[in-house]
Amino acid sequence: MESLPAAWLCLKPGRHHSRFDIRRSGKIAALAQLRALAMSGIMHAAMPNSHSSMPDIAALARAIDRPLALVGMMGSGKSLVGRRLAQRLDLPFIDSDAEIEKSAGITITEIFELAGEERFRTLERNAISDAADSGPSVLSTGGGSICTPETAALLCDRTIVIWLQAKPETLLSRIGSISSRPLLHTDDPLATLRDLAERRAADYGKAHITVTTDQLSAAAAVAAVLRALDSHLAVS
Ligand code: S3P
Repeated sequence: MESLPAAWLCLKPGRHHSRFDIRRSGKIAALAQLRALAMSGIMHAAMPNSHSSMPDIAALARAIDRPLALVGMMGSGKSLVGRRLAQRLDLPFIDSDAEIEKSAGITITEIFELAGEERFRTLERNAISDAADSGPSVLSTGGGSICTPETAALLCDRTIVIWLQAKPETLLSRIGSISSRPLLHTDDPLATLRDLAERRAADYGKAHITVTTDQLSAAAAVAAVLRALDSHLAVS
């Protein structure tokens, strides 16, 4: 097959152009269709340098001077997306819950049971403060961290806060087992997620960047975060 302009390769089948088929239509017909799409205002999604094009990752990584803190509800993908984001940007990955468990020598569930949530929030603030002092990284935070005012202040002042937003139904489907989530040890975890999400919305709203991930695979969420970050830092 002859090589195609980059803009064409960005074009994904979707509601507006599901009948657009480069393989069948050939280059000339495809050009005519692209022109028609451009005139109808749909093409912005396929043009180079548009919102869907990938940023220059090396330039973006150079512009990051502090941790990228992922916040959001349990199941929003902070750990999975965070790990992949760290890989793409060649940054260390830090998980605040894992740091707390490592230094306490017990699990988050055990900390809640033995010492209570308030003590956990203090340990969480200390872990996030340590991470904020350690230079650029991708920091996955516990879902309730930004709801503690001191932790919110240090996240907002010393990190770039990225909220991975998703509906409660999406969160529950991603969580799988609730055994490691003490706050979901209730009769109705979905109702608990709805309630928590509603009460926390204003706290998550403090984030510098919001990415809605309901319809996105992990890879697509990483790409969306990279693009949002690029535009937040005005790199491209
Ligand atoms: C919590 C979320 C958990 C963990 C703890 C409390 C919360 O982390 O920090 O169970 O308050 O939402 P994840 O968001 O990584 O599950």
